[in-house]
Amino acid sequence: MSIPFFLLIDRVFPYTLYKFLPMNILLPILALLFLLIIVGGFSVTIYYAVFYVPYVPTPKKIAKKMIEVANLKKKQRVFDLGAGDGRIIIYADKKGCISTGFELSWLPFILAKINILIQRSKAKIYRKNFLKKSLENVDCVFCYLWPSVMKKLQAKFEKEMKKGSKVVSYCFPVKNWKPIRKVPTIKGRGDAFLIYIYEIGKSNN
Ligand SMILES: C[S@@+](CC[C@H](N)C(=O)[O-])C[C@H]1O[C@@H](n2cnc3c(N)ncnc32)[C@H](O)[C@@H]1O
Repeated sequence: MSIPFFLLIDRVFPYTLYKFLPMNILLPILALLFLLIIVGGFSVTIYYAVFYVPYVPTPKKIAKKMIEVANLKKKQRVFDLGAGDGRIIIYADKKGCISTGFELSWLPFILAKINILIQRSKAKIYRKNFLKKSLENVDCVFCYLWPSVMKKLQAKFEKEMKKGSKVVSYCFPVKNWKPIRKVPTIKGRGDAFLIYIYEIGKSNN
């Protein structure tokens, strides 16, 4: 059933706005509002890219490979730290996992919300700093971040993650840890685009 256009507008803007304001005033206000949302969204995304990690989605084929090599079991708890548009948590949900992502930047966060909705996924995404989230009950953590962030996370992994749980990191290794497996993703690019799989208790001893 299609919703009439004016009803759709009614959901977004209060009725009084377009009922009582002449179009020549209403349209510039709406245009300005739209511009503010776009510019605001981009500024916040650039802020997080500069001060945290830029939003670069893992190519879908590689994201699926990360899920495959993690060897996930149903009902396992999975986190994606810096979940971007939610692709990894959505794939993990399809495997029957309890899947959660954390994303600080507004644009990818909204994209993730939309993707979760469109794909009717049970994955959850929160606009939160993952450094403030406990990893105590997590079975598998996915990351595609940056060496400086991996350094901060390393202490957190060692302190909070339980024995047998896994860390699957694309491109950036955990320093001084021994991966239980390294999976190449792009042919001919050597060690630049590896997936590192670590197991707590084996890799960090
Ligand atoms: C390279 S992207 C990876 C996105 C996604 N994991 C994927 O594989 O497609 C890294 C993301 O981490 C987010 N991020 C960086 N630091 C963060 C933090 N402390 N808390 C939450 N999100 C963070 C960035 O905003 C960015 O979107």
